[in-house]
Amino acid sequence: MIYTLTVNPAIDYSMSFDKIFSGGMNRSESESVHFGGKGINVSAVLNELGCETTALGFIAGFTGDELERGLLESGIKSDFIRLDSGMTRINLKLTDKDGNETELNAAGPDIPKEKIDELLGKLGSLDENDTLVLAGSLPRHVSQDLYENICEKLFTSRRMRVAADVSGNLIKGIMHFHPWLIKPNHLEAEEICGKKIDSHRSAEECALQLRAMGAMNVIISMADKGAVLAAEDGGVYRLTAPTGKVVCSVGAGDSLLAGFLAGYDATGDLREALRRGVAAGTATAFTDGLCSRQDYEKILSEVRYG
Ligand SMILES: Nc1ncnc2c1ncn2[C@@H]1O[C@H](COP(=O)(O)OP(=O)(O)OP(=O)(O)O)[C@@H](O)[C@H]1O
Ligand SMILES: [Mg+2]
Repeated sequence: MIYTLTVNPAIDYSMSFDKIFSGGMNRSESESVHFGGKGINVSAVLNELGCETTALGFIAGFTGDELERGLLESGIKSDFIRLDSGMTRINLKLTDKDGNETELNAAGPDIPKEKIDELLGKLGSLDENDTLVLAGSLPRHVSQDLYENICEKLFTSRRMRVAADVSGNLIKGIMHFHPWLIKPNHLEAEEICGKKIDSHRSAEECALQLRAMGAMNVIISMADKGAVLAAEDGGVYRLTAPTGKVVCSVGAGDSLLAGFLAGYDATGDLREALRRGVAAGTATAFTDGLCSRQDYEKILSEVRYG
């Protein structure tokens, strides 16, 4: 089973306007809702690709109920811990006709220590065949060593796969646990490695540096340039993304991670998993929202080993 953890999930409420007047009344022309959070995106794409997954995290209040219901309706299994107070946040995404995007993100509910302990207890029942995806930053009010504590908990008595797509400082904190996979994008990787990434070659050097720092497999995603993988088998693989019209690349990195995990689950081959990951990432970039299985399969036939 592939578990994903979204500590602070959100309901994303998108509104489009002709023009937005700050400090005045604005009436939207259309609205849409989707369930957000990086781990949830990964679970959604895994589910779309037919791979078994369960979304973990914390929910609260009526928005938490709606999030849980919405995922169930889409066929995405979840096993959230319910908080006794507060509410799952609603993040507003406002766009105007000139394409300006304004985001208003809420802090989210407080997570008391006993609920964190409940999560650690739940993770204690995962076994060696499971994978845990840690995705996204941690909210301000949550102890920033949560991911470290999770790795410590998971690795005390057994090894299991942890795949982390988290920001620089949080990655550094878990490297000594030798996570199975990390997936920074090129900007995040530049920040950790302290050098510029402007080609597949410089990305490969950085990926090898991150492997030397402790990660077993390192994927650096490079948007339209595709991705490189420094793998535990000693291989370094690069793939160029197919070209096409980008509609919205939000969630492309989460889709790459899901495609990679689903691909590895199906084939046990890291290079082929990367090919499937790049296909899922690109399929998401070329569509509104996350990719469908059909989009993914079409793009997969166009992704060739570099
Ligand atoms: N403009 C693009 N054209 C083609 N493929 C793209 C494009 N942008 C993203 N992709 C695909 O998606 C993958 C991941 O993209 P990217 O490196 O932008 O991830 P990211 O920055 O982590 O995204 P996010 O965090 O928003 O999910 C790329 O490796 C590529 O396969
Ligand atoms: Mg990302």
